[in-house]
Amino acid sequence: MTREHFTALDVVRIVGGLLFFNALLSYWFTSSTTWGYHGKYIDWRFWHHKILEPELHLSLNELSSYTGENNGRLLLAINGSVYDVSSNRAVYGPKGSYHSLVGKDAARVFVTGCFMKPDEYTYDLRGLDEKECQKDIKGWQQFFQTHRDYWYVGKVELTFDFINKDPPSPCEHVKFPGHIG
Ligand code: HEM
Repeated sequence: MTREHFTALDVVRIVGGLLFFNALLSYWFTSSTTWGYHGKYIDWRFWHHKILEPELHLSLNELSSYTGENNGRLLLAINGSVYDVSSNRAVYGPKGSYHSLVGKDAARVFVTGCFMKPDEYTYDLRGLDEKECQKDIKGWQQFFQTHRDYWYVGKVELTFDFINKDPPSPCEHVKFPGHIG
């Protein structure tokens, strides 16, 4: 007896077969099932975020728990926008060279590059040139948003408790090689 209609299962079978054949072909030519691609579009964490938590709204306190302890998630923020950088533990994880950027909004240090000065790890931009801040912050936000391995996850609510304190003292700015920002 012949069937007259395609069922959803047939579609799944065909798509599954094509994907399998594609993976096989890719492995034959590149020794990788994804033609050498390892970015966010094949990272389950990216799709988990896209489907199950389209937009996060974190407090600064909540953000501070995403520093990758116990193999956990790594989030960093720049002027209120939060990015997931979990796929690069070598750089942002507890032993990474830029670990000090995660779990907080350190917009200021993205502008100044004064990494050795602890009070630069803040979103207090007072005393800095407005145009420089706009350009650098936009540049870094774009870097994380469009990066192959990182993605935007939502917002952190910034408070302005620092307003009654002095802003960080001036420091000599250092720019990222390659002029990002
Ligand atoms: C405003 C100044 C700077 C900022 C905000 C900055 C920030 C960053 C960030 C966020 C990364 C990680 C990039 C990624 O995720 O792929 C990075 C990587 C790197 N940066 Fe900087 N950077 C600055 C200046 C510098 C300077 C002056 C140097 C060298 C003299 C430098 C050397 C490096 C190196 C070598 C890496 C690669 C790190 C690694 O893969 O372990 N950066 N930088």
